[in-house]
This record gives sequence, C-alpha cells and structure tokens, in this order.
Amino acid sequence: MKIAIPKERRPNERRVAASPETVKKLKGLGLDVVVESGAGIGAAYPDRAYVEAGAVIETEPAAVFGDADIVLKVQRPLGMAEGGPDEVHLLKPGAILIGILAPYGSSEALKAYAKAKVTAISMELMPRITRAQAMDVLSSQANLAGYRAVLDAANEFGRAFPMMMTAAGTVPPARCLVMGVGVAGLQAIATARRLGAVVSATDVRPAVKEQVKSLGATFVAVEDDEFRQAETKGGYAKEMSAAYQAKQAILIADTIKKQDIVITTALIPGRKAPILINSEMVSSMKPGSVIVDLAVEQGGNVEGSRKGKIIITPGGVKIVGHLNVPSRIAIDASALYARNLLKLIELIVDQKTGNVVLDWDDEIIKATVLTHEGRIIHPAFVEAEAAATTSAASTPPTA
Ligand code: NAI
Repeated sequence: MKIAIPKERRPNERRVAASPETVKKLKGLGLDVVVESGAGIGAAYPDRAYVEAGAVIETEPAAVFGDADIVLKVQRPLGMAEGGPDEVHLLKPGAILIGILAPYGSSEALKAYAKAKVTAISMELMPRITRAQAMDVLSSQANLAGYRAVLDAANEFGRAFPMMMTAAGTVPPARCLVMGVGVAGLQAIATARRLGAVVSATDVRPAVKEQVKSLGATFVAVEDDEFRQAETKGGYAKEMSAAYQAKQAILIADTIKKQDIVITTALIPGRKAPILINSEMVSSMKPGSVIVDLAVEQGGNVEGSRKGKIIITPGGVKIVGHLNVPSRIAIDASALYARNLLKLIELIVDQKTGNVVLDWDDEIIKATVLTHEGRIIHPAFVEAEAAATTSAASTPPTA
C-alpha cells in the first residue's frame, strides 16, 4: 500500500498534509510513503526530514500521485483549468483521496472524483462526536486561526492591548469584541485576554455564555426565545430569523462603537456567513480601530471586507480579510492537521493485513465519504445533485 503526500499548489497555501512525525507512524502501519519534493517547505519540513522519517521523495507529480492507494491533501486537488497539473486525473481509479475538500458548492469537483472512480473523503464533514475529536480538522485549524486573528489585529493596531501605567501617563487597555464563539472565537477570546485586552463576546448559541464568562470575558447577546433554541443537535448555529438579526444588529451597533478591535468568526455550515457588521456600524468605530473578518472566505461577516485585502475605510477603520488564516501559522497547523489525518488512516487501515477497510456502518465513514466506485454517495450531495438535475430539466429552454 502506497500513501502519497503531494505539494499543495493552491495560492496562499503553506500547509502540508503529513509531518515527519506522522510519516514515521504511517511507515509503522506498514505503508510506503511518497512525499513530493518541496511539499513541506512552507511548514519548515525539508525533504531530508521526511527521508529520515522513512519517506521516498519524488519530484514529478505523476510519480507522486501515480500508483498511490491513498493521497493525503490539505486542499482539494487542482482540476482542469485551474492552472497546474490536473491532479484529479493523476489519481488512479480506486484511490482514496483525503483532504479538506470544500464540497459545498463544488458539484463539478465531486463529479470529477466520481468519474475518476476515486473514493473522496472530506475531513471537514467529520461528525462532532467524542470518538472523532482527534480527527476534527475544523477544530484543529480554527483554534489556530482564532489565535492568529488576534495577532493579526494587534499587528494592524497602532496601540497596545494591555493597560500600561508609565511615568509618561497611562495607556488604556484595548477593548476587543469577539463575534461567534465556536472554536476560533474561544481561542480569540483567550488570546486577546492574554494580551491584556478587555474582552466581550457574542453568539447566537446560549451554550457559549458560560464558556465566555469562564474565560473572563463579558457575554453580549439578545437572549430571547429564538436564542434559547438556536443550536442544532450537532452543536452548530441555526440560521436566525430576520427579526432576530434586526434585534441583534441594534445591540451590536451599540456595543461596537465602543470597541477598538473586533474579531468575527460566525459561520453557518454549508451557507454564506451572516453579515453581523454593516457599514454604518463600521463608520461608528473610532479611527485606528481594527476588524478582522475570519469569515471572509465564506462571504464575510463584515460589510466591506475583501478576500485577501486590508481595507482602510474613510473613517480610518481597518478591515482585515486575510485568506487561509491557518496557513499563516503553517507549522503548527500542518502538525495538527497531519495528526488528524493519521488518526483517520489508523481507523481505515487494517493493522493486520495493511489493507484499507471502509466500514460503511461507521458514522465517521458515512459522514465523510463523498464519492465511491464512480458515484457521489454522500446523502447531502446526492440530494443537491438530484435537485440541480430536476430544476435544470424543468427550466424551459430560452429562445
Ligand atoms: P462555526 O465555525 O460553525 O461557527 C462559529 C460560531 O459562529 C459558532 O459558535 C456559531 O454559533 C456562531 N454564529 C453563527 N451565526 C451567528 C450569528 N448570527 N451571530 C453570532 N454568532 C453566530 O463553529 P465551530 O467552531 O465549528 O463550533 C460549532 C460547535 O461545535 C460548537 O458547539 C463547538 O463547541 C462544537 N464542537 C464540538 C466538537 C466535538 O464534540 N468533537 C469539536 C469542536 C467543536
């Protein structure tokens, strides 16, 4: 059994899907490991570190993907017309592809995996159950993104975070609001507190109130009946009604004008991120304030944020929209991601025979496998595909 770790070719991606530590463990499972030359450079793993761990280095993508039984990626493979080798076509039929495959809104990519007879496993669909915690890439990456977002804010902020009493006078502490208290938000609160800011936080899920308080921050939210039922069984936020969002906007408008730093992390799985800060709220902030929009790639929580840009508004507020924030802390992000993948490999590789065994009764497998034996099999995407086909068939042709 051969397992391959190609170089990530998408822009802004410095992470890699295996570390020398996990390569050693993959070898221990009886797998042959091939790493593409330079794959670990962005995460400070030189080729020689992989060789010392037992991997073989290949320089040509075809030799890396070629006869691999399992391919570990960070981001989904490049397809046709994405400027680079068509990585999907390099996969052999029957190969298992594992990565953060971003399946929502990517029906062409899913069809390509099915056509190539690849078994595609999407790590971000990992169920939030105790047994899967060690494979939870959303958590491992969001935690680091939340930390990095605060450092990025501090970097753009022309003032200090902690209160300082000096002979030349007192520097007041920065006031920081964290919007969305999932994994990233909790780490952002903890990081901003460690830097000495006065922190408050908001979320639509009531469960986070105690967590916010336990981190020494103040909880700000419209706590009505809708709020009390705003969490799905899976622990995620529901999309809130227009009426709730209007009430939330009034409260946030009042809070935000007193803030120096705002970190937004609010996401709804599979949907566009909710807008939490409109332009009027941005204009109400003091010049020199900084907003970091961690949801920018999912449409953004902030009106006026731009993917990959730092915008300075006419009122002097900076809106930071860095892309791929986990990649901005690539060494730790790669090390944790690689361990998440190793745990999944340990689950699917039979330790006695060394062969891959997918247990279709296992909820981890059911939740994460997108395509298998030439078909899209994940229920969420089978339905999306069927709906798209039906609506295309019922659309009358235009003259
Ligand atoms: P996420 O990345 O999907 O969303 C970030 C936060 O934004 C969430 O807290 C969400 O409630 C909030 N949000 C959504 N809409 C909002 C709005 N309109 N206004 C304000 N906030 C809004 O969340 P993440 O980090 O993936 O966590 C989701 C849940 O999963 C949490 O309950 C977390 O504790 C849980 N979890 C469970 C794990 C396990 O049991 N294995 C592992 C990791 C997380």
